[in-house]
Amino acid sequence: MFGLGKKEKKEPVVNVAPGELSAAIKEALGKVQDPDMQRELAALGSVREVNATAEKVTVALELHSHQPPHRAELETSVRETIAQYAPNAEVALTVTASIRAAGGGAWNKQGVTGVRNVILVGSGKGGVGKSTVASNIAVALAQDGAKVGLLDADIYGPSIPMMFGLAGNVRVSSKDGKTMEPLDRHGLKLMSIGFLTDPDTPMVWRGPMVANACMQLFKDVGWAPLDYLIVDLPPGTGDIQLSLSQQIAVAGAVLVSTPQDVAVADVRRAQAMFEKVGIGTLGLVENMSFFVCDGCNKRHEIFDSKGEKNATRLGVPYLGGLPLETPVRQGGDEGTPVVLRNPSSAAARAFVEIARTVALHVARAAVDSPREEPPPPPGQNPLLRVMG
Ligand SMILES: Nc1ncnc2c1ncn2[C@@H]1O[C@H](COP(=O)(O)OP(=O)(O)O)[C@@H](O)[C@H]1O
Ligand SMILES: [Mg+2]
Repeated sequence: MFGLGKKEKKEPVVNVAPGELSAAIKEALGKVQDPDMQRELAALGSVREVNATAEKVTVALELHSHQPPHRAELETSVRETIAQYAPNAEVALTVTASIRAAGGGAWNKQGVTGVRNVILVGSGKGGVGKSTVASNIAVALAQDGAKVGLLDADIYGPSIPMMFGLAGNVRVSSKDGKTMEPLDRHGLKLMSIGFLTDPDTPMVWRGPMVANACMQLFKDVGWAPLDYLIVDLPPGTGDIQLSLSQQIAVAGAVLVSTPQDVAVADVRRAQAMFEKVGIGTLGLVENMSFFVCDGCNKRHEIFDSKGEKNATRLGVPYLGGLPLETPVRQGGDEGTPVVLRNPSSAAARAFVEIARTVALHVARAAVDSPREEPPPPPGQNPLLRVMG
């Protein structure tokens, strides 16, 4: 008979001496292409550890984002490569992520202490869904395992307090008596001017004061350590956008538009402003792209969706389109973003996919143009600085 119940021994495709197995597998894995980063694993420093015998292979991979869109394909290629050397081995594959800082040439701007990547969410116009997109992207990234903060930079019309059902009670750190502790919700760190002021009292500050208040939300809040700090920008291209893009080292901007032509024209203005101050665009999100009728399941493109075309026209990656859905609005009003409130809805799934694509674009930017550290102050011996 054919040895029923007994696992058949396979012959390796590539034969190496037992003592060289780990090194051989490590080298072979280094040549595997990461389908998301479009580079070989060795060049990305992703193969951290290989420990192999013919019976058991332990591999530790370190990716540049937590859930890259083609992670499953990558794992399959890794397992196939291992099988060429040790086809009968039990494989223990651990995958972690280490997020790097993007934003090349930003050394003349300040980073936010302990924050790897500041990601702006902006548009030229109000009401297109910036706060909704910022909140849900932040929640989705945190759910994937990243350390995430959300900064509400809309000083005149903060909406993060409502979108997360939070008010006040900001504590000041007892360590230095001035650093404000961000609030915690759904695994996120949150800060908004709305936590510091009475929500019913309108802001009557002048431009420069508003810009200063906004800068304090970056510099005087205990954000560290974060992989991503998502910034919900106010509409337009005013004082806040300008001072923050001049002062803060930013990984890139996510632009939000709706399909209407006027919204796209506004987004082009926002993009031009970011470009002027050296901030790259991570991509375009089209909100309210379509509506799926729950009676007939038909997809209605109310505003005639053209997200992909618009992204091409702007010369930026298209990050995806979001449906117009009642639970999105309800989630925003009730304080639980739709990604948590209705995780199986089309909108929640679209948000998760967009968040993962944003993280991937940040990871690519971090490899192509890593954030530079500032040069040592004049007169200081750089060697002494390194040696502390
Ligand atoms: N895809 C969507 N489906 C349903 N309602 C949405 C959607 N996107 C945004 N909204 C709702 O539209 C309103 C404006 O969105 P908001 O995120 O506050 O816009 P912005 O920050 O650009 O001013 C909010 O009430 C929000 O809940
Ligand atoms: Mg808003």
